[in-house]
Amino acid sequence: MLPRTMSRWSPETRERARRILARYPEKRSAVMPLLYLAAAEDGHLTPEGMEEVARWVGLTPAQVQSVASFYTMYKRERTGRYLVSCCTSISCMLLGADEVLAAVEDEAGVPAGETDDEGVITVEHVECIGACGGAPALQVNYELVEGVTPDTARELIRWLRSASPEAVHTDEMQELFGTRRSFDWAVPERVGAVGPFPAFEPYGTTDGNP
Ligand code: FES
Repeated sequence: MLPRTMSRWSPETRERARRILARYPEKRSAVMPLLYLAAAEDGHLTPEGMEEVARWVGLTPAQVQSVASFYTMYKRERTGRYLVSCCTSISCMLLGADEVLAAVEDEAGVPAGETDDEGVITVEHVECIGACGGAPALQVNYELVEGVTPDTARELIRWLRSASPEAVHTDEMQELFGTRRSFDWAVPERVGAVGPFPAFEPYGTTDGNP
């Protein structure tokens, strides 16, 4: 393993890592946010990225890999620029999730679990994403869109391809392609995702409205 002083990460990523680590009394407690940081740095989680995380948090690479391999949101293979995650759990299934997924697969031209040839769209089906009241729901780069139909899901895929938004933003996509929402947060979302990483931390995020 490289010593930490010979980090592969950019100065900006190292600064983000330092800020994350400073929040935790135990360094190893930062393993999960640092894994997202490593994925954002390389485009997906690589063995080298996981070794880097291990150095920062004082765990072995095997320990870090065991965390990364447990959770499906840590992608260890490159995904498309837009990761489209269709919920097929019970509430969504009862309200047409299978038809939504089929429409997404057809419009994207790939079955769930695969990425199109251009590296633009990856489709996956996932378990409940916490938006049952707005079922059927999907996410693009972990940004929610609720109350989708097969037709609006197709429109969403076409929009991703044609508009090629730098950041995807839940409020914008909900306005364009969603209908019923599980509940209203009453405050607008400020951040959007700039890659297939969640936007709730300083990895792959952008501030401001779309
Ligand atoms: S069942 Fe789909 S969001 Fe909960």
